[in-house]
Amino acid sequence: MVSAGAQVGVFAACVVLFVPMGLAGWHLSRNKVLFFSGALFVSLAVGVHLSPYLPSLPHLLIASFHPTSPSSSSSSASCLSLLHRVTWSPASPATARAWSWPPSLASTCGFARLTRHDASTLLNGSWIMVAGDSQARLLVLALLRLLLDPAAAAAAEPDLFRRHSDYHAAVPARGISVDFIWAPFEANLTRLLREDLRLAPRAPDVLVLGSGLWHMLHATDASRYGDALAAIADAANALRSSLPVPPPPHMFWLGLPHLVNPMLNTDAKRARMNDTILQAYDREVDERCILRRDGGPFLLLDVGKLTRGCECTPDGMHYDGVVYDAVMHIMFNALVIESQQRI
Ligand SMILES: *[C@@H]1O[C@H](CO)[C@@H](O)[C@H](O)[C@H]1NC(C)=O
Ligand SMILES: *[C@@H]1O[C@H](CO)[C@@H](O)[C@H](O)[C@H]1NC(C)=O
Ligand SMILES: *[C@@H]1O[C@H](CO)[C@@H](O)[C@H](O)[C@H]1NC(C)=O
Repeated sequence: MVSAGAQVGVFAACVVLFVPMGLAGWHLSRNKVLFFSGALFVSLAVGVHLSPYLPSLPHLLIASFHPTSPSSSSSSASCLSLLHRVTWSPASPATARAWSWPPSLASTCGFARLTRHDASTLLNGSWIMVAGDSQARLLVLALLRLLLDPAAAAAAEPDLFRRHSDYHAAVPARGISVDFIWAPFEANLTRLLREDLRLAPRAPDVLVLGSGLWHMLHATDASRYGDALAAIADAANALRSSLPVPPPPHMFWLGLPHLVNPMLNTDAKRARMNDTILQAYDREVDERCILRRDGGPFLLLDVGKLTRGCECTPDGMHYDGVVYDAVMHIMFNALVIESQQRI
């Protein structure tokens, strides 16, 4: 645990470094209506129209689109911080574990699961890029399972899981593109931000990055991991401020999962990837100004927190699909809240 004083110090350092960049980004984006707003208003109309059949959706959208409601931006900011408060139902022989938001939270903040239709309306016309290691791949799988019909999602799996390769999928009817970029090391992510995306004709609308497990296994050095994270944050901020066309992408950081050391499947993993080193790696994520709460570019998708509650891993490191389904819905609801804040 980091002391409160150290946290304040880190925060101050981050603010000094990144607030000017953040303001520049905000200034750019202010003049453009966010791409979600159009889609959401359409979906609001559709949702209201279909309300007897879609009980959750109108609630989500109305709750998040009440510009006149008192202190809506401060309450949406606090809702953002409550997104990870999911509860797990116990597994039984007949049912797998399932996640949910406590009903009170869901109703105060308007959190909701999205149906395929809602998700494709929310993401209409957008480009989602997820880059990282096998966790990132599992998040893409959750996305495909929601966006595509079950047969198409099943057909996509062998290609998605081809070892160490990139993957592209599209939902042409909605103009949605999904890219998975195999980037197990931090240097791969920095390069993606500094070179590949810098040269691309447009930036992704949603960018999810995450890595660390390979570094933990192969380098086993938390402070070097921290240096690499700082380089990623610099590259992400530079990409943001260099974009000719606002708004800048929504950026998420996919956190490290909880590791169940005795279940890890090789001697090297069991020797190197213990709780002590995991905590040291997590601390670097907290201290290197990469997260929005410290003035950095990324909103954390806290896989560690979610996976500690689930107890649903076959190998101590990768978790059942239900975890990445929760991660994806946290991301969607964060996008709705953020779109609301930016309009
Ligand atoms: C989806 O986006 C396309 C452009 O990519 C636009 O023509 C269409 O009207 C949008 N549909 C909805 C439902 O927002
Ligand atoms: C990722 O980075 C490592 C270390 O810098 C490098 O050896 C590897 O080729 C890179 N992989 C990809 C897919 O870019
Ligand atoms: C945890 O792993 C590190 C290397 O990653 C090792 O130096 C340390 O001794 C291990 N600690 C325990 C308690 O096993």
